[in-house]
Amino acid sequence: MLLEEVQDLKAKWGKEIILLAHHYQRHEIADLGDRLGDSYELARAASEAERARFIVFCGVRFMAEAAEIVRRENQVVIHPAAEAGCPLADMAPVDRAEEAWEHIAGVRGADKVMPLVYMNSSAKLKAMVGRYGGSVCTSSNAGRAFEWGFKEREAVFFFPDEHLGRNSARGVGIPEEQVVVWDPKQEGGGIEEKALKGARAILWKGYCHVHTAFVPEDIQQARERFPEARVLVHPECPEEVVKIADGAGSTAYLVKAVENAEPGSTLVIGTEINLVSRLARDHQDRTVIPLKRSLCPNMFRISAKRLLDSLRSLPEPEVVTLPKEVKKDAKLALERMLSI
Ligand code: 13P
Ligand code: SF4
Repeated sequence: MLLEEVQDLKAKWGKEIILLAHHYQRHEIADLGDRLGDSYELARAASEAERARFIVFCGVRFMAEAAEIVRRENQVVIHPAAEAGCPLADMAPVDRAEEAWEHIAGVRGADKVMPLVYMNSSAKLKAMVGRYGGSVCTSSNAGRAFEWGFKEREAVFFFPDEHLGRNSARGVGIPEEQVVVWDPKQEGGGIEEKALKGARAILWKGYCHVHTAFVPEDIQQARERFPEARVLVHPECPEEVVKIADGAGSTAYLVKAVENAEPGSTLVIGTEINLVSRLARDHQDRTVIPLKRSLCPNMFRISAKRLLDSLRSLPEPEVVTLPKEVKKDAKLALERMLSI
């Protein structure tokens, strides 16, 4: 019933509305999406959605905010669960990040360190990075963003996910001893000046609880049970997990890997459970198994009922808003990502 009404309202608004859904959404929401994608693809889709007046974003808040930053003048962004944040994004409040930047720039020189901010961050933090000449990145282009950062400056300062930062730094060949972790709870980030002076990658101490739930023993057990399987994980997983997996990449990478796998093959996937169970549902001629059941409760907040409430509120919905200055500076950082 609810879903039928959602479909009717979607049909009624036709091309005036576009529904963007992240891969971690519940199946019924993902199935309704005009575009289903990873956070990079959805930011791009929002920036290219020329015809739609209403961009309905089914994901977490930082994703809806990114759409708000890149949208056109005549559009609005609707987020059906305004309270659905991301604990990882909340681990880097902008005032603490500013303090850290001041300290690091004082030791190394502001023109020597490139700030890079993961899409999973507040709009204010993206704006700060935009002001200091840096870029946003997502899990699908973090490697390229690190390469760009090192081409432009001596070191990169990456927030807020330590694990994606560590995996990306390793991916572009930065030795472990040149990677330091900035702990916002400690004076000077808990990094000695000598180490800070020699560091090439400075990583904010933040993590995603959905992906740090995966541990190396999960992979060892999966290999014992399914010796023929390929094990693929998201790069928000800790380095020791990524290192022993057969591959790591964004949610779009994981989707493509399953789509391109031979019928009859087995894949064990380490990421959010809604995506893994949908891949299993949609590819019944291959075996798709979750590395472990790990759910993102914030992604789960958007239900058919919440989406219906949003659609019923058209043409006067509650929209995502951001201060003008924040939008302007955050857009610089987002546009740098889109052009890298
Ligand atoms: P993707 O960019 O890979 O879709 O990841 C977003 C995210 O929140 C992962 O936890
Ligand atoms: Fe945030 Fe992790 Fe959920 Fe992604 S899976 S939205 S990083 S809490």
